[in-house]
Amino acid sequence: MTTAIQILVTGGEGQLGSELKFLATRFDGLQLNFTDLHGLDITNPTDVDNALAAVNYQYLINCAAYTAVDKAESEPDRAYAINATAAQTLATACARYGVKLIQISTDFVFDGKGHRPYTEEDETHPLSVYGASKEQGEHLAIEANPECLIFRTSWLYSSFGSNFVKTMRRLGSERHELNVIFDQVGTPTYARDLAKAMLEGINSGNALNEFGVFHFSNEGVASWYDFAQAIMEMSSLACKVQPINTFEYPTPAARPHYSVLDKRKFKETFGTTIPYWRDSLKACIETLDHEK
Ligand SMILES: NC(=O)c1ccc[n+]([C@@H]2O[C@H](COP(=O)([O-])OP(=O)(O)OC[C@H]3O[C@@H](n4cnc5c(N)ncnc54)[C@H](OP(=O)(O)O)[C@@H]3O)[C@@H](O)[C@H]2O)c1
Repeated sequence: MTTAIQILVTGGEGQLGSELKFLATRFDGLQLNFTDLHGLDITNPTDVDNALAAVNYQYLINCAAYTAVDKAESEPDRAYAINATAAQTLATACARYGVKLIQISTDFVFDGKGHRPYTEEDETHPLSVYGASKEQGEHLAIEANPECLIFRTSWLYSSFGSNFVKTMRRLGSERHELNVIFDQVGTPTYARDLAKAMLEGINSGNALNEFGVFHFSNEGVASWYDFAQAIMEMSSLACKVQPINTFEYPTPAARPHYSVLDKRKFKETFGTTIPYWRDSLKACIETLDHEK
């Protein structure tokens, strides 16, 4: 009998963590253990060390993060503690215990001045505290543990937690009209697709020998306006979506105008077929409708 691959998931109650939990039972060969802030605060090095000493983990998927992009502008210390210093703590502990770390990062490491999908080799230049803290987390993790994997993703949503899809559905049912930015372009990503791709990569054994930065989002390109429009259509909401410019909706944090990720490296390395963003959105909305 082969023993299951032991995986520790931090930030297990967030969107991505919850999707991993949802999919966990579909992978017989994987044993996932979930923790969150109250069970394992990743900013506490002693607790991190104790968690890794307790079980013979082969992987740690770090889904824990400070993700409040605008709030981070006024709470930089907390954002850096969770997104940067704690990533270093996890990477150091993983190196010590021989655990493969998968650290999740973001398209917000880019400034969005590009006009073609960003590759892993493109220079980063974050515009916000959140983006800069995640960028520093990447650097510190790689420095402490060159064997780690960094998966950058974009515009995550899920049937779990709070996100743009759920906010649009709520507002769409309350209002006749909504203004949404059309000059920020990227790719929405169903967290379930990323969770599935990660578990398949681990299950196949491919992830063990890989390291470095990889990009993963759904296929295709959309503005927030297109995304909102699709959410209304697929949710059968009559709310009219009006396109507006970024300057008409000022936020504390600046966001990249263009942050489409080139996923060629991920697809070629892990043999993943990535769904088109509208197909994945439809799947998520069906799940949400089913829950109503
Ligand atoms: N959301 C997006 O649009 C997006 C886009 C690109 C990349 N990403 C990245 O993708 C990853 C997953 O994002 P997500 O949307 O799933 O995030 P999320 O829903 O905000 O979940 C993050 C989880 O981390 C927990 N957490 C916060 N501080 C912690 C700590 N010190 N120790 C342990 N757990 C802690 C949070 O708990 P509390 O809720 O109790 O604070 C929450 O359960 C993150 O690395 C994020 O930066 C997200």
